[in-house]
Amino acid sequence: MTDTQKREIVCSGIRPTGNLHLGNYFGALRNFVRMQEEHDCYFFIADYHSLTTHPTPGSIYGDASKIMAAYLAAGLDPDKATIYLQSDLPETIELYLFFNMNAYLGELERVTSFKDKVRQNPNNVNAGLLTYPTLMAADILIHKATRVPVGKDQEQHLEMTRTFAGRFNNMYHAEVFPLPQAIGSATGLVKIPALNGAGKMGKSEGEASTIFLTDEPSVVRKKIMKAKSDSGPTQMNQQKPEEIENLFQLLRVVSTEETVEYFDDLYNRCQIRYGDLKKQLAEDMVAFVEPIRQRIIEYQADDARLRRVMDQGKEKAHESARRTLDEVRHVIGYRN
Ligand code: TRP
Repeated sequence: MTDTQKREIVCSGIRPTGNLHLGNYFGALRNFVRMQEEHDCYFFIADYHSLTTHPTPGSIYGDASKIMAAYLAAGLDPDKATIYLQSDLPETIELYLFFNMNAYLGELERVTSFKDKVRQNPNNVNAGLLTYPTLMAADILIHKATRVPVGKDQEQHLEMTRTFAGRFNNMYHAEVFPLPQAIGSATGLVKIPALNGAGKMGKSEGEASTIFLTDEPSVVRKKIMKAKSDSGPTQMNQQKPEEIENLFQLLRVVSTEETVEYFDDLYNRCQIRYGDLKKQLAEDMVAFVEPIRQRIIEYQADDARLRRVMDQGKEKAHESARRTLDEVRHVIGYRN
């Protein structure tokens, strides 16, 4: 840690509603791994939040352990960071209740993610969905976290977290909570584009456009060879259209600088063959993803080990949560 960097409390979570992909890796996991070296980190799996949109998940533990395996495969270390399941920390729910007591219907209804989900699924506008931001605030503030590594789409939720924290402090005349900040691009968060030439990699752009950390080499190769390109540049040094820029962006994250320069130069001289670029990209992508995939498989096969990690995380998270909750109960006026 350098002198200018202060040790912070960091907290973030991922919902176990799908397999993790390259976008999650570069947008979240890789940053988590870096931050565990320098800060007090709490990384959890948001398996309560899942129910807001996926009320009957079947085996939520199974889904959560897949994410846990990916956390470990990416390099999170249970001795450095606190890694746990949200549902192993019911203290969060007590704090959630207190925040719900002074979260207003109007402000919750105005949240963009809420409005989007109402539009997508008008038959399941449940109270959990409405109070998604108060649960998220509880996740973060139960550890008094000051920094929250999340993407842009979570900034509004973070703003609400600050609102609830400040409101609580004012209401009970006590400086219980910090006002946490999102940390995104400042920490080198890299955007990963979808393979279909539009938008970012993720659930919304579909399976074929997304490289999952659990994709086998043959699948990775096939997806990349089918990625959208165009008929090629017609003028020297012309600007790259989005789908081509996206291929270069992927190259930049998994290939060497020389490789990127090599294809960039061919592009600028109108001599590029996208088939060659894609073949190289596919090989470099496989070399990148395959070791992670192998480690995910190993961790997934060792449920006893995953459970030990979860138990260790649960205990550490509980300690921190208990401290906060005792203080919260005290300032409201409950018996401790
Ligand atoms: N809402 C986050 C997402 O969908 C997941 C999440 C839940 C979270 N609780 C959190 C992220 C607390 C950071 C901190 O990505």
